[in-house]
Amino acid sequence: MIEEIIEISKQAGAIIRDGFGTQFNIEFKSNENNLVTEIDKASEKTIVDFIRKKYPSHDILAEEGSEVKNDSEYLWVVDPLDGTTNFAHGLPIFSVSIGVQKNGETIAAVVYDVMRDVIYSAEKGSGSFANAEKIEVSKTDRIEQSLLVTGFPYNVADNPEGAFERFIALTKKSRGMRRLGSAAIDFCYIASGVFDGFWEVYLHPWDICGGKLIAEEAGGIVTDFEGNAINIFSKKILASNKLIHNQIIEVMNEVGS
Ligand code: IPD
Ligand code: CA
Ligand code: CA
Repeated sequence: MIEEIIEISKQAGAIIRDGFGTQFNIEFKSNENNLVTEIDKASEKTIVDFIRKKYPSHDILAEEGSEVKNDSEYLWVVDPLDGTTNFAHGLPIFSVSIGVQKNGETIAAVVYDVMRDVIYSAEKGSGSFANAEKIEVSKTDRIEQSLLVTGFPYNVADNPEGAFERFIALTKKSRGMRRLGSAAIDFCYIASGVFDGFWEVYLHPWDICGGKLIAEEAGGIVTDFEGNAINIFSKKILASNKLIHNQIIEVMNEVGS
């Protein structure tokens, strides 16, 4: 199955790459920050058409509204374009993210970093890869030497879960904080040891599903801000290389919510 997921991610990625920098139609979703382009929709259609044809009995949850509910033990969780704001503004950091769950557990995942042409992939129990190369999380063991990354949800103006205070505290404590704009890529940079920690509030299942397995299979850990196990519906996620996880949680707790 992983080869098929890679193939369809590349096809969707090609649509996105071809659309980048062109004149495309943009609509607003919950507010003026929350965009959807015709390219998001075209990418989703390509992926969903494939699943419906190849695996007609499987369930689907996709960001732009495609939903199949068959009570299947399999669920495909699809973000057809993660990083739409970057895409719409001409910043070449965005991805396609697909996770496949069986009975609620993610068993296969692909995140395609479209402009770098890198396929991140993982199957449960088999490690994580960037193209053909096995990847692992970093060995950084002190938060003071860590490079962290975060993102903000579209209701950022409400400062949900004290996101701004947490941003300040973790920025002061770490070597640096980044905000790339594609949660799926943030997880993959944890997996490949570029970032040591990634935290965000109010992500959606399609932002989390693929990237979480890729980070975990590379030796990382993904929990809430108290260190509890999470599923793809969690509203608080903290991913790290394991070694600095508790140090990040300590700073989180100093701030509260
Ligand atoms: C967004 C990106 C971004 C994160 C937002 C997400 P979208 O997804 O993952 O990094 O900060 O919370 O909603 O809307 O571009 O698919
Ligand atoms: Ca997303
Ligand atoms: Ca999206």
